[in-house]
Amino acid sequence: MDLFGFGIGAAGIVLGFAIGRLPLRAAAPSVSAPPASGDAAGTDSRFEQLLQSLTVGVIMLDRNGRIESLNAAAGAILELTSGRVLGRAIIEVVPSFELDRRVHEALAGNPSRGRVALARSSGTRMLTVATLPLDGSDGVLVIAADETRLHELEQTRRDFISSVSHELRTPLSSINLMIETILDTSGDPEAIELFLPRIKHEVDRMVQLVEDLLELTRAEAGRLRLRRESVDLASVAGNILRTFEPSAAQLGVHLRMSENPARIDGDPDRLAQVLVNLIDNSLRHTPAGGTVTVEVRTGERGATLAVHDTGAGIPFNDLPHVFERFYVVDRSRAREASGTGLGLSIVKGIVEAHGGTVSAESELGRGATFTCAFPASRAAPASR
Ligand SMILES: Nc1ncnc2c1ncn2[C@@H]1O[C@H](COP(=O)(O)OP(=O)(O)OP(=O)(O)O)[C@@H](O)[C@H]1O
Ligand SMILES: [Mg+2]
Repeated sequence: MDLFGFGIGAAGIVLGFAIGRLPLRAAAPSVSAPPASGDAAGTDSRFEQLLQSLTVGVIMLDRNGRIESLNAAAGAILELTSGRVLGRAIIEVVPSFELDRRVHEALAGNPSRGRVALARSSGTRMLTVATLPLDGSDGVLVIAADETRLHELEQTRRDFISSVSHELRTPLSSINLMIETILDTSGDPEAIELFLPRIKHEVDRMVQLVEDLLELTRAEAGRLRLRRESVDLASVAGNILRTFEPSAAQLGVHLRMSENPARIDGDPDRLAQVLVNLIDNSLRHTPAGGTVTVEVRTGERGATLAVHDTGAGIPFNDLPHVFERFYVVDRSRAREASGTGLGLSIVKGIVEAHGGTVSAESELGRGATFTCAFPASRAAPASR
């Protein structure tokens, strides 16, 4: 998507409107100069209004590269807080040599368009900037669009594709290797006995990964279909907890539950999925002798489900990222080969589809607590 093209187009339309639909290079309207009188005044004030309502930043520089006028969007995009920007060179108010270079090229008659990264207090902003010389060496028009969000989305998409490719390539190449070995040994029964179960395991893992991805995509697109009913979160939690008892016993981890009935409007299967993911994580990161506790509570505004463990915990810097797709803190820490980092993003998707929120707290070495807060059931209590 080229917002930038739109920016140029929009500014071109506005300028064209203001100066009698002349091409950009035909004249240099002074957007801040007060009109003389009559019709010109009307046109100029309408032009000014249009310019100010644009979401792309527009700056007019005079032939010496001094700022002559700018619209509100330019001030916001370039974070020009000081009121004294008029009459200054662009480099004095926007700390970017790249932008300055482009302005100077435009002053020399060469237009340009491209990305400019701007380090700001709020982080790096990615701008797409056009610098256009105005006819008769009369100055330069700078058009700037803030495409930081778009840039971030592009980055997320790239990361996502590379993570998926990586997650699929690893099991596929190991399957390939095992099949080759079976073929090389002309179907030796021993090789078959050894490798077939492993191949099955890898295929199962890939099927699970693809299912998780589909689930996640649905959740993120808001298309997760919930079969809602009035459900007691505590009884869902109790059922799931019981299914984990054998594996917890094997690992030497205590499972505890503090049950208080808590009715919400939820999809019992999806809620079970939330619990499975959270308890599975806790068990994987809690050493023998530790405890995993599931707590269900009701409050004024709804119900909360918390899964707490006394395990390895999560480093402070990683904590804000654990709900991101494919985020795995440290592959060497988990009890078994670590997962794909999709579990918590699925948990988040499901809880948010229920109108709830998720949060994580942890102290490294002292365990972690994952809390899901759900809105109160809309159904009136049966009797009270
Ligand atoms: N209870 C916990 N204690 C310590 N670290 C945790 C805990 N829960 C999650 N994490 C960390 O957060 C990361 C993301 O968790 P998530 O459930 O999304 O992925 P995963 O468990 O690695 O893989 P998946 O769930 O897809 O099989 C984990 O890899 C782990 O590093
Ligand atoms: Mg997990």
